[in-house]
Amino acid sequence: MAIRNIVTVGDHDPVLRRPATPVRRVDHALQALWDDMFETMTDAKGLGLAAPQIGLGWQVMVASVPVDEANPEAEREHFALANPELLWVSIDLEEGQEGCLSIPGLYGDVDRHLEIRVRALGRNGRTRIVEASGLAARVLQHEIDHLNGVLFTERITSYDKLYTFRENEEGELEKVPYRPPKAGTPPPPVLSRDRLPPTE
Ligand code: NI
Repeated sequence: MAIRNIVTVGDHDPVLRRPATPVRRVDHALQALWDDMFETMTDAKGLGLAAPQIGLGWQVMVASVPVDEANPEAEREHFALANPELLWVSIDLEEGQEGCLSIPGLYGDVDRHLEIRVRALGRNGRTRIVEASGLAARVLQHEIDHLNGVLFTERITSYDKLYTFRENEEGELEKVPYRPPKAGTPPPPVLSRDRLPPTE
Protein backbone atom coordinates (compact mmCIF):
# COMPACT_ATOMS: atom_id res chain seq x y z
CA MET A 1 0.00 0.00 0.00
CA ALA A 2 1.08 3.55 -0.58
CA ILE A 3 0.00 7.04 0.31
CA ARG A 4 -0.80 8.92 -2.91
CA ASN A 5 -0.35 12.61 -3.54
CA ILE A 6 -3.62 14.56 -3.17
CA VAL A 7 -4.45 16.94 -6.04
CA THR A 8 -5.71 20.32 -4.82
CA VAL A 9 -7.47 23.09 -6.73
CA GLY A 10 -4.23 25.08 -6.58
CA ASP A 11 -2.65 22.49 -8.91
CA HIS A 12 -5.09 23.55 -11.68
CA ASP A 13 -5.32 19.92 -12.79
CA PRO A 14 -8.44 19.43 -14.96
CA VAL A 15 -8.86 15.95 -13.44
CA LEU A 16 -10.84 17.56 -10.59
CA ARG A 17 -13.27 19.16 -13.06
CA ARG A 18 -13.87 16.32 -15.51
CA PRO A 19 -16.45 13.54 -15.19
CA ALA A 20 -14.58 10.33 -14.36
CA THR A 21 -14.75 7.18 -16.50
CA PRO A 22 -16.59 4.08 -15.23
CA VAL A 23 -14.41 1.05 -14.50
CA ARG A 24 -15.13 -2.09 -16.53
CA ARG A 25 -14.52 -4.63 -13.79
CA VAL A 26 -13.05 -5.11 -10.35
CA ASP A 27 -9.58 -6.62 -10.63
CA HIS A 28 -6.44 -6.79 -8.48
CA ALA A 29 -5.29 -3.39 -9.73
CA LEU A 30 -8.55 -1.80 -8.59
CA GLN A 31 -8.40 -3.55 -5.22
CA ALA A 32 -4.84 -2.23 -4.79
CA LEU A 33 -6.07 1.25 -5.73
CA TRP A 34 -8.84 1.06 -3.08
CA ASP A 35 -6.17 0.05 -0.52
CA ASP A 36 -4.01 3.03 -1.46
CA MET A 37 -7.00 5.35 -1.33
CA PHE A 38 -7.96 4.11 2.16
CA GLU A 39 -4.41 4.68 3.33
CA THR A 40 -4.26 8.14 1.75
CA MET A 41 -7.65 9.13 3.19
CA THR A 42 -6.76 7.86 6.67
CA ASP A 43 -3.40 9.65 6.62
CA ALA A 44 -5.20 12.88 5.67
CA LYS A 45 -7.86 12.41 8.39
CA GLY A 46 -10.45 12.32 5.60
CA LEU A 47 -14.00 11.03 5.68
CA GLY A 48 -13.90 10.20 1.99
CA LEU A 49 -11.70 10.31 -1.11
CA ALA A 50 -12.47 10.06 -4.82
CA ALA A 51 -9.95 8.85 -7.43
CA PRO A 52 -9.77 12.24 -9.24
CA GLN A 53 -8.38 13.64 -5.97
CA ILE A 54 -5.29 11.48 -6.49
CA GLY A 55 -5.12 12.39 -10.16
CA LEU A 56 -6.98 9.38 -11.59
CA GLY A 57 -10.06 9.90 -13.74
CA TRP A 58 -11.85 6.68 -12.74
CA GLN A 59 -15.19 6.34 -10.98
CA VAL A 60 -13.67 4.94 -7.81
CA MET A 61 -14.16 6.19 -4.25
CA VAL A 62 -13.68 5.31 -0.62
CA ALA A 63 -15.26 6.63 2.55
CA SER A 64 -14.93 6.02 6.27
CA VAL A 65 -17.72 7.57 8.30
CA PRO A 66 -18.36 7.42 12.07
CA VAL A 67 -21.52 5.39 12.73
CA ASP A 68 -22.35 7.73 15.60
CA GLU A 69 -21.69 11.34 14.56
CA ALA A 70 -21.55 12.45 18.20
CA ASN A 71 -18.79 9.94 18.92
CA PRO A 72 -16.41 10.05 15.91
CA GLU A 73 -13.71 7.98 17.60
CA ALA A 74 -16.03 4.97 17.86
CA GLU A 75 -17.01 2.51 15.15
CA ARG A 76 -16.78 3.61 11.51
CA GLU A 77 -18.53 2.36 8.41
CA HIS A 78 -16.21 1.83 5.43
CA PHE A 79 -17.14 2.10 1.77
CA ALA A 80 -15.06 1.00 -1.24
CA LEU A 81 -17.16 1.64 -4.33
CA ALA A 82 -16.79 1.90 -8.10
CA ASN A 83 -19.25 3.41 -10.58
CA PRO A 84 -21.56 4.67 -7.79
CA GLU A 85 -24.89 5.91 -9.06
CA LEU A 86 -27.67 7.63 -7.11
CA LEU A 87 -30.81 5.52 -7.53
CA TRP A 88 -33.00 7.48 -5.15
CA VAL A 89 -32.73 10.56 -2.93
CA SER A 90 -35.03 11.80 -0.18
CA ILE A 91 -36.86 15.06 -0.70
CA ASP A 92 -35.64 16.08 2.75
CA LEU A 93 -32.43 18.05 2.72
CA GLU A 94 -30.08 18.75 5.60
CA GLU A 95 -27.54 21.55 5.81
CA GLY A 96 -24.19 20.51 7.24
CA GLN A 97 -20.51 21.32 7.32
CA GLU A 98 -18.25 20.06 4.55
CA GLY A 99 -14.65 20.50 3.63
CA CYS A 100 -12.59 18.90 0.90
CA LEU A 101 -9.08 17.43 0.90
CA SER A 102 -8.65 19.14 -2.49
CA ILE A 103 -9.55 22.60 -1.08
CA PRO A 104 -7.39 22.77 2.06
CA GLY A 105 -8.71 24.94 4.87
CA LEU A 106 -12.03 25.92 3.28
CA TYR A 107 -15.34 24.77 4.78
CA GLY A 108 -18.93 25.40 3.91
CA ASP A 109 -22.49 24.61 4.94
CA VAL A 110 -24.00 22.53 2.15
CA ASP A 111 -27.52 21.18 1.63
CA ARG A 112 -27.53 17.42 0.93
CA HIS A 113 -30.25 14.82 0.67
CA LEU A 114 -30.79 13.31 4.11
CA GLU A 115 -31.21 9.78 2.78
CA ILE A 116 -29.96 8.17 -0.43
CA ARG A 117 -29.80 4.83 -2.19
CA VAL A 118 -26.73 4.10 -4.33
CA ARG A 119 -25.94 1.31 -6.78
CA ALA A 120 -22.23 0.55 -7.18
CA LEU A 121 -19.65 -2.17 -7.71
CA GLY A 122 -18.19 -3.41 -4.44
CA ARG A 123 -14.83 -4.96 -3.62
CA ASN A 124 -15.98 -8.43 -4.62
CA GLY A 125 -16.89 -7.17 -8.09
CA ARG A 126 -20.63 -7.58 -7.53
CA THR A 127 -23.23 -4.87 -7.79
CA ARG A 128 -24.39 -3.73 -4.39
CA ILE A 129 -27.05 -1.36 -3.15
CA VAL A 130 -25.99 1.04 -0.40
CA GLU A 131 -28.55 2.86 1.70
CA ALA A 132 -27.18 5.74 3.70
CA SER A 133 -28.45 8.63 5.78
CA GLY A 134 -27.05 11.61 7.63
CA LEU A 135 -23.27 12.01 7.51
CA ALA A 136 -22.71 8.86 5.43
CA ALA A 137 -25.22 10.11 2.84
CA ARG A 138 -23.46 13.50 2.85
CA VAL A 139 -20.01 12.01 2.29
CA LEU A 140 -21.25 9.69 -0.49
CA GLN A 141 -22.95 12.62 -2.26
CA HIS A 142 -19.74 14.66 -1.93
CA GLU A 143 -17.65 11.83 -3.46
CA ILE A 144 -20.17 11.12 -6.25
CA ASP A 145 -19.98 14.84 -7.05
CA HIS A 146 -16.18 14.49 -7.35
CA LEU A 147 -16.72 11.67 -9.87
CA ASN A 148 -18.83 14.10 -11.91
CA GLY A 149 -16.21 16.87 -11.71
CA VAL A 150 -18.21 18.87 -9.15
CA LEU A 151 -16.70 20.42 -6.00
CA PHE A 152 -18.67 21.27 -2.85
CA THR A 153 -18.08 24.98 -3.45
CA GLU A 154 -20.39 24.69 -6.47
CA ARG A 155 -23.16 23.42 -4.16
CA ILE A 156 -22.89 26.49 -1.94
CA THR A 157 -25.83 28.84 -2.29
CA SER A 158 -24.14 31.95 -0.87
CA TYR A 159 -20.65 33.19 0.00
CA ASP A 160 -21.96 33.60 3.56
CA LYS A 161 -21.95 29.80 3.86
CA LEU A 162 -18.18 29.53 3.28
CA TYR A 163 -15.63 29.88 6.08
CA THR A 164 -12.18 28.97 7.25
CA PHE A 165 -10.96 28.33 10.79
CA ARG A 166 -8.40 30.05 12.95
CA GLU A 167 -7.20 29.35 16.47
CA ASN A 168 -8.06 31.91 19.12
CA GLU A 169 -5.82 32.71 22.08
CA GLU A 170 -7.25 29.78 24.04
CA GLY A 171 -6.30 27.48 21.20
CA GLU A 172 -9.94 26.91 20.25
CA LEU A 173 -11.12 26.82 16.66
CA GLU A 174 -13.08 29.85 15.50
CA LYS A 175 -14.92 30.23 12.21
CA VAL A 176 -13.73 33.04 9.96
CA PRO A 177 -16.06 34.16 7.14
CA TYR A 178 -14.53 33.46 3.74
CA ARG A 179 -13.50 36.44 1.64
CA PRO A 180 -12.46 35.96 -1.99
CA PRO A 181 -8.71 36.65 -2.21
CA LYS A 182 -7.66 39.95 -3.74
CA ALA A 183 -5.30 39.77 -6.69
CA GLY A 184 -1.67 39.92 -5.64
CA THR A 185 -2.25 39.13 -1.96
CA PRO A 186 -1.14 35.78 -0.58
CA PRO A 187 -3.89 33.50 0.77
CA PRO A 188 -4.18 33.38 4.58
CA PRO A 189 -2.27 30.56 6.29
CA VAL A 190 -4.12 27.26 6.61
CA LEU A 191 -4.03 25.41 9.94
CA SER A 192 -2.59 21.91 9.85
CA ARG A 193 -5.05 19.09 9.13
CA ASP A 194 -4.52 17.75 12.64
CA ARG A 195 -6.19 20.86 14.05
CA LEU A 196 -9.08 21.11 11.57
CA PRO A 197 -12.35 19.16 11.37
CA PRO A 198 -12.19 16.14 9.00
CA THR A 199 -13.03 16.68 5.34
CA GLU A 200 -14.00 14.79 2.24
NI1 NI B 1 -13.76 16.51 -1.59
